Amino acid sequence: MESTDDEVAALLDELDRAELVRLVHGALDPEGTATGYLPGVERLDVPPLRFVDGPLGVRIPDRRATAFPAPLALAASFDPSLARSQGAAMGREAAAHGQDVLLGPGTNLIRVPHGGRNFEYFSEDPVHSAAFAAAVVEGVQSEDVLACVKHYVANNQETDRATVDVRVGEQPLRELYLPAFRAAVDAGAGAVMSGYNSVNGTPMSEHGRLLGDVLKGEWGFEGFVVSDWFGTTDSVRSANGGLDVEMPGVTGEELASLMGMDEGGPDVDFDELGGGMPDMRTAARFETELAADVEAGDVSADRLADMAGRVLSQMASVGRLDGERPDGALDTDEHRALAERVAVRGTVLLANDGVLPLDDEADVAVVGPNVDEALLGGGGSSEVTPFVSSTPVEGVTERAGGEVTVAHGVEPVADLSFFEETEPPADADSSVEDAAAAAADADVAVVFVRDRATEAMDRPDLRLPGRQDELVSAVADANDRTVVVVNSSGPVELPWREDVAAVVENWYPGQAHGDAAAAVLYGDSDPGGRLPVSFAAESAYPTTASERFPGEDGVVEYSEGCRVGYRHFEASDDGAVYPFGHGESYASFAYRGAEQVDASTVRATVANTAERPGREVVQAYVRPADDANGDAPVRDLAGFQSVHLDAGEAVTVEVTLANDAFRRYEDGWQEREGPFVVELARSAGDVRATVPFERP
Ligand code: BGC
Repeated sequence: MESTDDEVAALLDELDRAELVRLVHGALDPEGTATGYLPGVERLDVPPLRFVDGPLGVRIPDRRATAFPAPLALAASFDPSLARSQGAAMGREAAAHGQDVLLGPGTNLIRVPHGGRNFEYFSEDPVHSAAFAAAVVEGVQSEDVLACVKHYVANNQETDRATVDVRVGEQPLRELYLPAFRAAVDAGAGAVMSGYNSVNGTPMSEHGRLLGDVLKGEWGFEGFVVSDWFGTTDSVRSANGGLDVEMPGVTGEELASLMGMDEGGPDVDFDELGGGMPDMRTAARFETELAADVEAGDVSADRLADMAGRVLSQMASVGRLDGERPDGALDTDEHRALAERVAVRGTVLLANDGVLPLDDEADVAVVGPNVDEALLGGGGSSEVTPFVSSTPVEGVTERAGGEVTVAHGVEPVADLSFFEETEPPADADSSVEDAAAAAADADVAVVFVRDRATEAMDRPDLRLPGRQDELVSAVADANDRTVVVVNSSGPVELPWREDVAAVVENWYPGQAHGDAAAAVLYGDSDPGGRLPVSFAAESAYPTTASERFPGEDGVVEYSEGCRVGYRHFEASDDGAVYPFGHGESYASFAYRGAEQVDASTVRATVANTAERPGREVVQAYVRPADDANGDAPVRDLAGFQSVHLDAGEAVTVEVTLANDAFRRYEDGWQEREGPFVVELARSAGDVRATVPFERP
């Protein structure tokens, strides 16, 4: 049998220039389902290649798919095996919809708490982000669908997203922003999407150093780089800078039909949608200019062949050049159960005075403006329309043994959907007073609150929108057994947290919202989630200065360097309210016998000392033994392991430590000087055992 390389080389010999160009820019999908479409070359049996959004499941206008929990919720599970499963399920659903490339995972580091797309990303920590990025890529591609990891790189905010120039030092770039992309590449990602932003003055779609030298050179990436949609500014500079495919590659009003926004749809303001994207209606540079660029010698013929060859090689890697296309699977029982399992496992118990788990027989007041709808995600290209969903009221009602009353309290929080005008979901005729009265009459009140977030816009602040804080306070005054379930895209301020009996962070849980929340509230499952982002007061973040966020005159300075997330809060007087890695369990755990195993492994025995099963997430942080860390962060997460323990059970947990935790980027990667200690911890703020650690 012909090797893939030979097969691709033979095709490249056959293809004429126009055909090569056709392989590297998008076109309209005649079936109208793909977010991005390469038409292929029929003459040589090269089939079309369909790209589809996105990280929470398959998004096709007017089609349905499983709405999985947002990646941030998935990451809160601290269990990459779940990410692999979710990736595989999303791959199967993409295939079932006739798609070949899934536009995900998104793996930008969470730098700014306001980030409109934080729910689409994994973490404020590079080791943690890397583990999830790699696992999702492996999962998707195990189904013979290509994963397109996005948005490379330092694409960390939505304000001015199309044009912002990120000024970032080499050290934070290498230590924080690049590692998850490198992990995705090491996991075999077939495609990488360049970000809209510039880095140190150069747009990412033409960044010769980061696309060419780093991604393709140092990391040996053999797949193709695709532009973000309309995210190019120059054909020659892109081709020569390392961009292989331009998307969507169509001009003008074709966009509207491509995105399902043509007649009959809402009035779309393209400038707003694009976050100020220049030329959004017209960009189709490779289609109109690339052949002439090659003709003129501005782009070499070899480079064009390399661009097309990369696409063909990836098609070959998933069998597409041999006419193979997986059947996939859609909305199966397994996918429904997985969507619920991930939502449960990502749920974080922030605080609990003992009110949780709820008593089966308790009379419950379910309170909140949006309790009649499942929170599927944020706005933008990640919006999925599910076949089924469970609302908070449905989830609690189904599970509760006692009486359930419902009160909305305040006006609903409207979605920020790109694609539909959203009507308020619930009639908000109940008042705060009615909600407080319902709470007073019940044994326990469960208040569901939410933020709202969307692509193309950052959150204006970290407060809950509308009058939700007022609602929680009133309910807490009326019933001292008040539990608050927070559904948010990232950190939110919780000003009433000392006044309530429990706080649960349930993120954007997807279609299984109500069932998953109820499973945790009633203790059918231990809350296995831990925070992948620090929760702090808005004023305590390192990005409070406007030159750091949202930037000044189109430039954002990453002058906090590596002090992002817990790396900032640990060194600051104004610490986190809930640190990175934090999350309570209904069980309790003891650590003993912590020791080094080898140059990259530690272990400890973890015992469940409670009379109920529980899930512990053992986190390993590295720091120098003598605390002389210079300017570097105090501690770096090096590994983690999520384990289920039956009542009274003890297991030995081994944690593999990432090499990156033992090196720094200063004029190239440098091994850090030991001796080290590895801290086994329940969060960045709760160390349970300390192990002296030698590197050979
Ligand atoms: C987003 C991408 C998305 C693409 C296609 C862009 O605006 O930034 O994440 O995959 O649109 O919908």
